[in-house]
Amino acid sequence: MNRVDLIQEIIDKKGFKRYLEIGTYKGESFFPINCKYKVAVDPQFNIPIKRKIKWIVKNANNVFNRFFEHTSDSFFDKHEKFVSKFKPQVVFVDGLHTFKASLLDVLNSLRHLDENGVIVMHDCMPPNRAASAFANSFKEAIDMKLEGWTGEWTGDVWKTIVYLKEKYGDKLKLYVLDTDYGLGYIETNVPIEALHIDESIFNRVNKLKYDDLLKDTSLINLVDKSKVNELL
Ligand SMILES: C[S@@+](CC[C@H](N)C(=O)[O-])C[C@H]1O[C@@H](n2cnc3c(N)ncnc32)[C@H](O)[C@@H]1O
Repeated sequence: MNRVDLIQEIIDKKGFKRYLEIGTYKGESFFPINCKYKVAVDPQFNIPIKRKIKWIVKNANNVFNRFFEHTSDSFFDKHEKFVSKFKPQVVFVDGLHTFKASLLDVLNSLRHLDENGVIVMHDCMPPNRAASAFANSFKEAIDMKLEGWTGEWTGDVWKTIVYLKEKYGDKLKLYVLDTDYGLGYIETNVPIEALHIDESIFNRVNKLKYDDLLKDTSLINLVDKSKVNELL
C-alpha cells in the first residue's frame, strides 16, 4: 500500500468528492487519484501540458482539476474564501518537509476540512537518520552531504504527529501507517479550536531526535500497514 492506494481507499470508502493536495510536483500522486474535484497547491509545479492532457484522456475527472501555484501559506491566506467554500474532504499534506511547515499545513487544513474529513500526511517515518535531517529544501538537505545520505528526505515532519498527539490527542484519530515513508492519518472526532501553534509544546517536541523516535515509535502511533482495514 502506498499513498495513492490509501487516499483512494479513503475516498472510495467514504464516498468523498473533494480532494486537496499540498505539494504536487509532477503530479505522481495527484493525477492517478480518482475523485470528482481535485485542487493542487505547489510553488513550483513541474507538469508539462502534455501530461495534463494525457491524464484527462486516462481519467476524465482530471478535466476539473484546479492548480494554485503558491506556497501553502500563501494559498490559505490569499484563497481563504475559495478553500472554505471548497471544504476539502481529504487533504494530502506533502509540501515542505519541515516540522513547522507541515504543522501549519495540518492546522490550516483542519480549519477548512469537511466535518468527516481526513488528512493524510506523507513522510512521517524517516527511513534513516540522514533522511530525517532538518533543512529548508531538498536541495539544502543534499548540500549538507550528510553521512548515510541515500537521496531520500522526509525531514522532521514526524514531529507534527507527536505535536498533534500531545495537543489534541483526545480529539483526533491519529496514527502512522508504516509504509511509503510513513503515512500519517488524521481524523477529527469533535470540532477543534485553538488552531494556532502552541510554542511551548512546539519547542519541546522540536528538541526530540530521530533516535528518540526509533526507541519509541508509539510517539507517532506507528502501526503495521496490514492494520489499515481495521483502522479506516
Ligand atoms: C515531495 S514533492 C511532492 C510529491 C507528490 N505529492 C508526489 O507524491 O508525487 C514536494 C513538493 O512540495 C513543494 N513545496 C515546497 N515548499 C512548499 C510550500 N511551502 N508549500 C507547498 N508546497 C511546497 C515542492 O515544490 C515539491 O514539488
